[in-house]
Amino acid sequence: MERTFVMVKPDGVRRGLVGEILGRFERKGFRLVGLRMLRIGRELAEAHYAEHREKPFFQGLVEFITSGPVVAFVLEGPNAIAEVRKMMGATHPKDALPGTIRGDFATTIDENVIHGSASPEDAAREIALFFREEELL
Ligand code: CMP
Repeated sequence: MERTFVMVKPDGVRRGLVGEILGRFERKGFRLVGLRMLRIGRELAEAHYAEHREKPFFQGLVEFITSGPVVAFVLEGPNAIAEVRKMMGATHPKDALPGTIRGDFATTIDENVIHGSASPEDAAREIALFFREEELL
């Protein structure tokens, strides 16, 4: 059993894709163990994306992720980290296959609708950034 952190980004919330995205994961069989809607502040954005701090797209990424509400959630299930990444599709929507979330709903790498943890270490760090232990049921 594994837990992963997932976030519908501001473009996904703005476009009304939250239900569709949550539904896909629920229908797949993952268990929703935590859920929050929030507007991310600059400090949390910089902590969440710390690994990209030196990248040329970092400032744009922080601007975008703080531009409107996001929906953050934690899913639990067998191989949740890799399975969720598979269902999300490739980071760049041009490489994401039809049937994946980015393949079906995104066209650009900047506004690619969804984030999911890349590794067990990232999942633990990201879950702790967004949720207190007692918020995970
Ligand atoms: P995400 O999985 O949230 O992790 C970092 C994000 O940076 C990524 O999705 C993209 O939306 C965004 N990004 C913007 N430009 C790039 C790029 N050139 N390479 C990788 N990620 C990028």
